[in-house]
Amino acid sequence: MEVGEPDFEPPAAAIEAAAAALRDGPTEYTSSRGKQSLRDAISDYYDRRYGVDVPAERIIVTPGSSPALLLTMLSIVDPGEEVVLTDPYYACYPNFVRQAGGTISTVPLDPDAGFAPDVDEFRSAITRDTAAALVNSPSNPTGAVMSGDSLEAIAERARRTDTRLVSDEVYHGLTYDDDEHSVLEYTEDAIVLDGVSKRYGMTGWRLGWMVAPPDLVETLNRLAQNIVICAPNHVQDGAEAALRMGDDWLDGIKETYRERRDFLVDAADDLGLSMDYTPGGAYYLLLDVSHLPGDAFEVADVFLEDAGVAMTPGPDFGEGAEDTLRASYATSTSDLEEAVSRLDELLSQTAI
Ligand SMILES: Cc1ncc(COP(=O)(O)O)c(C=O)c1O
Repeated sequence: MEVGEPDFEPPAAAIEAAAAALRDGPTEYTSSRGKQSLRDAISDYYDRRYGVDVPAERIIVTPGSSPALLLTMLSIVDPGEEVVLTDPYYACYPNFVRQAGGTISTVPLDPDAGFAPDVDEFRSAITRDTAAALVNSPSNPTGAVMSGDSLEAIAERARRTDTRLVSDEVYHGLTYDDDEHSVLEYTEDAIVLDGVSKRYGMTGWRLGWMVAPPDLVETLNRLAQNIVICAPNHVQDGAEAALRMGDDWLDGIKETYRERRDFLVDAADDLGLSMDYTPGGAYYLLLDVSHLPGDAFEVADVFLEDAGVAMTPGPDFGEGAEDTLRASYATSTSDLEEAVSRLDELLSQTAI
């Protein structure tokens, strides 16, 4: 229950397309922006899912969304400049910001609000001195999903203060209650990062993309050209096949995740580890371990050593997750059941 890797197979159509491309070629470098046919498929995806027109010229394909995050920070943050994040945050964000010489300023999230950002607080953290603000919905590590209104209000604040807005939408498609919204519905000035890793179970394929605002496309492409050259040729064909399948493919998987989430939320309650919230997306749940002996790293060690249950220590995700563990339910239902039963036994002993 530690890593955030989907436990389902990639779509057969993606495997077929990538295998055929490897077999039949061509396998040389592609354009650094990505193959035209893949960028067209991504553009169609935004039209189909969100009703927004994203011309292929604004899409740059990268080997996963992680390099896209780095390229983004390198292009919009100068040394000493500040980037606003929510806390808890995805563990790698501060590292990308630091790599560009920037600093982070965090807006704490409230578990009682289900870790949804307080929009007024987030907006007031964005000033004329802010280089960029980064949002991530559905979120890693909380699983919280932001409403369209929140995204719109933040986009408006970013526009007024001349701040670059970055939206990490890599968990889009994996929401279980409400509709999800892309920030692109409200602005074309945001930089949006996404990819096939989480939605299609294709983490190791390494395929992501960024949607760039018109004024940043050339800069980002120049950086991409120099630093990553291009995403793997055959993988681009596999990703295109996945994107062309339509969105029904995910229905069964989403249902499974929803059932696991509900199971885990109830189990957390029974185990006395609940933070009293139900995440709306991704496949993570933060658990409260503040009442157990030791810090979160020590509790994680005890869970692992004594129960054989692996979870990620919350402090990796910022001060706001200090006394928590992140449980991932991207693991089989039977393993989740086994883990809960082992933790139940462990926690009923007086030693912990
Ligand atoms: C919030 C978030 N963004 C980005 C990534 C990176 O994904 P990838 O580089 O596989 O596209 C991850 C991976 O766990 C993530 O959780």
